[in-house]
Order: sequence, then structure tokens, then C-alpha cells
Amino acid sequence: MRAMVIRRFGGPEVLEAVEVPVPEPGPGQVRIRVAAAAVNPVDVATRAGILTEAGVVPPREVLGLGWDVAGEVDAVGAGAGFRVGDAVIGLRDRIATPLGAYAERIVLDASAVAPAPAGVSPAEAATLPLNALTAAQALDLVETTGTVLVTGAAGAVGGYAVALAHARGLRVVAVAGAADEALVRGFGADEFVPRGPSLGDRARTLAPGGVDAVLDTALLGLDALDAVRGGGEFVAFAAGAAPLPLRGVRVRGVWIRADGERLAELARLAENGTLPLRVAGVLPLSEAAAAHERLAAGGLRGRLVLAP
Ligand SMILES: NC(=O)c1ccc[n+]([C@@H]2O[C@H](COP(=O)([O-])OP(=O)(O)OC[C@H]3O[C@@H](n4cnc5c(N)ncnc54)[C@H](OP(=O)(O)O)[C@@H]3O)[C@@H](O)[C@H]2O)c1
Repeated sequence: MRAMVIRRFGGPEVLEAVEVPVPEPGPGQVRIRVAAAAVNPVDVATRAGILTEAGVVPPREVLGLGWDVAGEVDAVGAGAGFRVGDAVIGLRDRIATPLGAYAERIVLDASAVAPAPAGVSPAEAATLPLNALTAAQALDLVETTGTVLVTGAAGAVGGYAVALAHARGLRVVAVAGAADEALVRGFGADEFVPRGPSLGDRARTLAPGGVDAVLDTALLGLDALDAVRGGGEFVAFAAGAAPLPLRGVRVRGVWIRADGERLAELARLAENGTLPLRVAGVLPLSEAAAAHERLAAGGLRGRLVLAP
């Protein structure tokens, strides 16, 4: 079968098409025929070697790329609990394996897989796992029932974070480019702050004394921490993006982990429209390099998806 991998770090050109044996599922695993694999910033950072420099991805001779998958189960290991033919979504959360979701087949632990949301295309479904689970797991870290500010609210994680926080009954302040105000209000934002300097001052006009919590998906760090009240909460989304816990703010980092049960709940929220599934474009698997270029250029709304 065909897969896209890297054998060295660099620009999009290091993405290489290879022929590899079809992987076999072990006990508790399923093999998925990949219909769609979303292209995420983590793939670009892995390919560029940024995550290895940061000590997050150990060096390997061959690294597979792609975390998000939608497709159909085509083989099951003992006790996996799925059937051949099931439409599923899943998340590869092991960061240094030789095969990722950029492939014609992928083997995942059944505990990382959930039934696909009904009534949506595989491309749409593939945009859900990594970013919706990250948003949900970030919100799990936050105790407030008050006001939460989300930076990068028009982005994949940020959009889901706004929608999930709104569904949880929090007052949501969204930070995004001015052109995205209607978009993020549509996700459920109660208040909007255009991105730019002095975020802390501008947020405090809406939440005197500061917001109770920040989900900093745009990795603004100290500028976003400045919007939090003393003793509030802050969630960082990348290594090195967690600011010092000034003014008694409790700073935590979220690290995604696969969770099939939670993913099944999120799929239901996608089905009923609570979580918006946004596809910026669908490209053949062989054009992974072009997808990486487009993602790195910025400004995409929705995910690019590879279709083997
Ligand atoms: N820790 C984890 O487990 C985990 C899991 C998933 C993702 N992540 C990380 O979370 C981050 C967000 O991921 P994503 O997939 O949501 O990325 P994304 O879709 O590219 O969204 C990022 C958003 O931030 C906006 N942004 C960038 N710079 C900004 C600034 N200075 N002020 C305000 N907004 C700004 C971007 O706007 P423009 O598009 O207009 O530039 C974009 O809307 C990435 O760094 C990703 O690697 C972490």
C-alpha cells in the first residue's frame, strides 16, 4: 500500500511516497481503510523537525505523518469491538511511528476509534478527532463557570473550543481577526475582541479585572495571560507556549490523548451541528506536500484533507 512518510526534516519536498506492507491489527486493534486524513499544524512541525528540536518527537529513520483519520474498518483484531465495514473516525496519538494517517490503511487501538458522525462526508469527519478532542480536554482542565477567553478562535482547535465552552454554559470571549467576527460568533462566542496589541486591556473592558480563564490556542503566551484575572486559569497548547504563572494564575498545558468514548460524544455533537466541521479543501494523498505548503502559508479556514 501507499503511504507518505519523511526520512529527513525539511520543507514540504521531504514528504515521500513509499510502498509499505499492509499493517495487520493485533489484539484490541482495528485496521482502517483511510478515506480521509486531515492535515494539521503538528504534521508541518513534525516534518520541519521543530518537534524533534523541542524534544517532543524522538529522531527516527522513518516517520509517518497524520493524526486524524476517517474511513472504514477493514480488519479487526481479537476483542476490538468493531466490525469490518464500520464507518469510523480515529486518532493516532503516538507521535513517532513509521506510519501515520497519510496512508491507504492505518492500524489503531480500538480505544482510539469511534463511530463516524452520521450524515457527513469522510473529509468533514476527518477534521474532528485531533482538534475537537484537544479542545474538550483543554476545557476539562478549566474549573471556572464564568468567562473564558479563546485566542485563535477562528482556528481548528479554537473554533471547537468556542463551541464546547458555549455548550457548557460559559461566557465566551473570542479573539480572532476582525474579518472572522461573524464566524466565531456563529460558533457561540458571546463577545469578540479583534486580535492585536494590548489584548489584556481590551479583554478587561469586557471582563473587568480580567477573564476567569484563557484557552490560548494561538500561542500568544504572556499577552494572553495578561487578560486573566489574578488567580485565574490559563491553558497552553504547545511546548514552550506556557507563560510563567504570574499573579497566581494557574498555568497548565494540554496534551492530546486518544479517547474513543469521548470522540464518540464529540461525533454526536458534530451530527447535531454543535461542532462545526470545516473542510478547506480535499487533495489526493500524493499531494501532501502541496497541502503542507498551503497550511504553512496561513489564513486557511477549515482543514485541508488528504484522500488516498
Ligand atoms: N497540545 C496539544 O495537544 C495540541 C493539539 C492540537 C493542536 N495543538 C496546537 O494548537 C495550536 C492551534 O492549532 P490549530 O489546529 O487550531 O491551528 P490553526 O487552525 O492554524 O488555528 C490557529 C489560529 O490562530 C490564529 N492566530 C495566529 N496568530 C495569531 C495572533 N497573533 N493573534 C490571534 N490569532 C492568531 C490563526 O489565524 P490566521 O489563520 O489568520 O493566521 C488561526 O486562526 C497549534 O499550535 C497546534 O499545534 C496542540
